[in-house]
Formats: sequence, structure tokens, C-alpha cells
Amino acid sequence: MAIGKIFFSGSFFFFLYLVGFISIPADAAVKRYQFDIQVKNVSRLCHAKPIVTVNGMFPGPTIYAREGDRVLINVTNYAQYNMSIHWHGLEQFRNGWADGPAYITQCPIQTGHSYTYDFNVTAQRGTLWWHAHIFWLRATVYGAIVIMPKQGTPFPFTQPYRETNIILGEWWNNDVEEIVKQGNKLGLPPNMSDAHTINGKPGPLFPCSEKHTFAMEVEQGKTYLLRIINAALNDELFFAIAGHNMTVVEIDAVYTKPFTTQAILIAPGQTTNVLVQATQAPGRYFMAARPFMDAPLTVDNKTATAILQYKGVPNTVLPILPQLPSPNDTAFALSYNARLRSLNSPQYPANVPLKVDRHLVYTIGLGINPCATCLNGTQLTASLNNITFVMPQTGLLQAHYFNIKGVFRTDFPDRPPKPFNYTGAPLTANLGTTLGTRLSKIAFNSTVELVLQDTNLLTVESHPFHLHGYNFFVVGTGIGNFDPAKDPAKFNLVDPPERNTVGVPTGGWTAIRFRADNPGVWFMHCHLELHTGWGLKTAFVVENGKGPDQSILPPPKDLPPC
Ligand code: C2O
Repeated sequence: MAIGKIFFSGSFFFFLYLVGFISIPADAAVKRYQFDIQVKNVSRLCHAKPIVTVNGMFPGPTIYAREGDRVLINVTNYAQYNMSIHWHGLEQFRNGWADGPAYITQCPIQTGHSYTYDFNVTAQRGTLWWHAHIFWLRATVYGAIVIMPKQGTPFPFTQPYRETNIILGEWWNNDVEEIVKQGNKLGLPPNMSDAHTINGKPGPLFPCSEKHTFAMEVEQGKTYLLRIINAALNDELFFAIAGHNMTVVEIDAVYTKPFTTQAILIAPGQTTNVLVQATQAPGRYFMAARPFMDAPLTVDNKTATAILQYKGVPNTVLPILPQLPSPNDTAFALSYNARLRSLNSPQYPANVPLKVDRHLVYTIGLGINPCATCLNGTQLTASLNNITFVMPQTGLLQAHYFNIKGVFRTDFPDRPPKPFNYTGAPLTANLGTTLGTRLSKIAFNSTVELVLQDTNLLTVESHPFHLHGYNFFVVGTGIGNFDPAKDPAKFNLVDPPERNTVGVPTGGWTAIRFRADNPGVWFMHCHLELHTGWGLKTAFVVENGKGPDQSILPPPKDLPPC
């Protein structure tokens, strides 16, 4: 299946170094980590620049835990930026204080201050990740979370010989916060990234990348587990390995029915675990990642590469490139996503809510607003049900817990205020979009169905939506407008994929279900940082239950003040 060959001259191969595999630490009930937020000079693509890091590492350190562990991560901020860290996909039962999105569950950790994220890893195992959750700082502040199953519990698939993390990212040659400021001044999207990266490295298709190529060594005949994470800010990505199929076994820390594929599609925020068998002719094979974009928009379409290298093969052997789906391959995207199914075994059941207490339909809209301070006099914006979310100055969880009035309202509409042909002809009108910090209040333990409906306001586009505090089941999806009379009959209520981030297809809809059994204030937003910044976000206030263990825990003493 490999179609291309890449030829290199010069000494690139002598600089390439192999990165070791991960060894899993021994069992322990409490895991402690120290995260120092530091600025460090890092050079990529022939440009050196200071970036914000954790412990000077890029990507940051991996958090290892075992299902059932308590994890304490002390974050000390030595940088001149406010900081907060989100443990993406961890459910944080009753414990939103440890969730991390700035101004939603906490105020940022200011320069010179510390905060300890203290949480339990309960009923979850697999790959998740952590990232800065304030402005665009997650461009460089991110890392993997590896949750091993309980001691003595094997994976429900072939036990791999070794495993490695593959974190996909984006790199800008200039200061990302500056680029965003520039964009906001113009009212336009900030410059797109200069490269994609694999484990922080763009690979040899980019200049000055001899030292910046990730490589993993494999032994003939062995099986490897790759924990793939999309930490990119704005790009859904295809990923493939030349000559090697992948077997998908887990998404967003939930086991799936295994299936084999030449390429995977992964949206920002999502994780995918795959098994790879080293059964090809000993050689060197490129892994590659490149965006999927099927809307009429331009993205950074450059390919990041890394190398899968058989033991004993010299670095002088030329690697071959994998065949990736073409960048606008909608058919591949839809059929790939349709193959994802929860494992739904007796040990790992899919507890899909069959009856729905609360039906919600949210439209996703982009728009142009007048902007007096913008150079062009207008700015791009985004909305859910015609509401552009305004970030508060106080953490919403504190406001809710301490009953502070005037910080947010709970009148977010359950359905679009003015129904229209959502995915028909392109519309530029912003349909009376309003600004507000408006949330939806959800009764404890009620079952929620949320249909996320893309619209052709300005343009259709695929949007990866992430819900904090929960996994949800993706019960249905389709192209065009959701039809409440016909579409629910086609829902998969048996083994739908369970995840924390789902791609709403371009010009289509996705229906998710979850049981609101985790009290707190839970952010929900498009995981394209561009759109989050434009207001494509809201939050759910899930009320306390009446039982003894059904209320939000008291806040920790060191919770950062505003
Ligand atoms: Cu990974 Cu609210 O984000």
C-alpha cells in the first residue's frame, strides 16, 4: 500500500535517534506529580523561540495511573502567563474543582502560585491526555495520560509486547499568543500553524528536522500498542503507517470492538489506541499525519512524519510514505466513524440511556459581527443556538457552589430559537445572535439527549465537540438536518461508541446521550481552539442529588482565587 518514496541526501539519518519505550511504574494507590510551568527555548523548523512548557519538556510528561488510583499533581506557575490545566476525559466525579478549564471550574493559577489537582481515577482505563485550558496555551502545554487497568486485569485484546504514545500536535514559528492577538485585532482567524508534529517533532519532510524526528524501534513478529492523541489546536487528522494496518481497540479510554484499518481519523481532543503487528519486511516505514478538511476552508495541509524502524535495520535505509486518505475524503471519514462500536462485553457494558428525560437540540453557527476596534470593522464569531458564550470573570463552579448571583444565567434554550433550513443554502445573516454567559440546568441523574446540528451560517464545517465531566454515547449521526420524526428510529442503542469528544460532520448532525449523574458545572465546547475562542461553547449545571454521595465535594483550600 505504500505509494511514495522519499529520498534524502546528506547526513539526516545519522542524526536520527530512537526513542525508548515506556515502562509502566509499579502499582501504587497514590501517584504524585510536580508540574513546573516554565518558559523554555525550543527550536523547530529552523526557528528557536521561547515556549511555555511543563518541566521544560515538549510534549510534557506522561501521567501514569492505574484504575482506582488517587492522583495529585501540584502545578507551580513560573511563567508570565496565567495557567490552568485540564485532564481531558477524566470524569472527575463530584470533583469539578480538579477539572481545570479557566473561569469555568477555577480561576487561573497566577505567576508564582501553585495549585494541586487532586482526583481519583474511577472506572476508567485507557489513554487520555492533559492540556492547558486557557486561551491558546495548549499549543505547547500538553501531554499523555495513561491509565492501566486494575492489577491482574488484562486488556480485552492481544497483550502488546510494548507500547508507545503518539501525540499529534501543531507548531507555530511565532509566539502563539501573539498570533492570536493579531488575529483578534483583524477580526480574522490567526495564521495557521507552520507544521504538524508527532511527539513534538515535525519529521524530515520539514527543514532543520534531522534532530526533530520521532522514531520507534520494533522487533519482527511482535505486537505494539500505539496510544494516539490529537493535541492539535484546529485540525482533524488522518494518521497511517506505511505497510502496516492498525487494529483500533480503544477510543477516548473506552474499549471498542476491534477493527482493522489502513488509516484512522482523529479529531482534536480524541484519543485512539491501535495495535500494530511488526510483520512486514524489516525496514523503515513512515508514520504520517495530515489534516482532514471537507469544508471550503484552507488549513495547514502539511504532513508530519515519524519512523517505525525494525530492529537491526540501518538508518541509511530510506523510509516509504503511507497512503493517507485525500484531505477532503468525506466518504472515508463517515465510513471510518461508522465502524466505531463500544466493546459492550459483560465486563465492559455499554449502559446507553434508553429513555430520555431531556431532549436538547443545539445549532452550531459561525458569523460575522460588527467590531468597532477591529481593523476591518468586523470580526468572526461563533454561537450555539444563536448564543455567543461570554467568558465570566469568576469561576462558574464557585458561583454555582457559593450561590454568587449575576455571574451566569441558566436559561440556555433547549432548542434553536428560530428553526430554519440549517444545512440549506449558505446564510450570512447571524439570525439575531446574542452574547451571554448562559448555561443549561440539568436535574441530577436525568438522561439527556443532545443533538448537535451543524448549519450553513457562513459555512458548513466539521466540529469536534467535547463535554467535560462525562462520557457520552454517540447514538446517531447524519448529513443534512436532523429529523426528530425519522432519525431516532435509526439510532444505535446497543453498542454505540462511548467517548468524550465527537466530530459533528460537515453539514450534518450528531446525537449523543448521557446520564447526568455527575453534579457540577461542566464545560462543553468545540475543541477547535479557533471556534472556542469565538464563543462556540456553553456549560451544563448538573444539580446535586439527594443521596449522601451525590453532591459536589467542597472546594480544596488552595483553589486559586480570581
Ligand atoms: Cu480538551 Cu475543554 O478541553
